[in-house]
Amino acid sequence: MKVDPGTLDWKEAYKLLIGSVLPRPIAFVSTVDQYGRCNLAPFSFFTGICANPMMVCFAPMFRGTDGKKKDTLANIETTGQFVINIVGEQIAAQMNDCAMEYPPEVDEFIQTGLSKIPSDCVKPPRVKECDVHLECTLHQIVTLGEHPGSGSLVIGRVVCVHVQDELFENGKINSEKLRPIGRMAGQTYTRAVSDTFELERKKQQGK
Ligand SMILES: Cc1cc2nc3c(=O)[nH]c(=O)nc-3n(C[C@H](O)[C@H](O)[C@H](O)COP(=O)(O)O)c2cc1C
Repeated sequence: MKVDPGTLDWKEAYKLLIGSVLPRPIAFVSTVDQYGRCNLAPFSFFTGICANPMMVCFAPMFRGTDGKKKDTLANIETTGQFVINIVGEQIAAQMNDCAMEYPPEVDEFIQTGLSKIPSDCVKPPRVKECDVHLECTLHQIVTLGEHPGSGSLVIGRVVCVHVQDELFENGKINSEKLRPIGRMAGQTYTRAVSDTFELERKKQQGK
């Protein structure tokens, strides 16, 4: 099968994309609006970019229902700040509930019973039930269109990292304890540490 994605309906193209790029980590993004009201939503078009400066990015698409901007993007445009909370398996259901299309004034923390803890460097609160938090300031938004199926790439600079003490061992995060989950296609998720294997990277001679 071979297809030019430009000839597809955006929903068909989306299915090919999420079936090809997987598993995807999940950024559970907390933001506040201009009035300080909180918002929380998951995004799996998410990755780290580089370490110095520490940069991450994620991509909110425009809503498939009405073509409108998602609250997360609108809030980041207004405040220039967000927190990426890393989702462990223990809060998978609440994370999924935050993906419902709530109006902007609805606080998903309250809807799902997740707890807020203050951040150190930015206004949006962190999710207490998450073990790793990346506090970010906006570096750049790359707009790739403004219609259903298109989206924006939000690039953030990480200004503060929080890791639960029990997970931090010898300068590394213990991923067995973090229990991260990944998103597959459709409604399927994967446990990131259930079936791992090691590959030693060979070093070139003289290096
Ligand atoms: C696991 C998961 C991953 C998601 N990833 C994305 C994504 O990468 N981009 C996107 O636009 N929406 C994604 N969504 C849907 C958004 O979470 C959903 O549209 C949400 O209502 C946006 O909330 P907001 O309007 O408060 O920003 C995802 C949903 C789930 C459950």
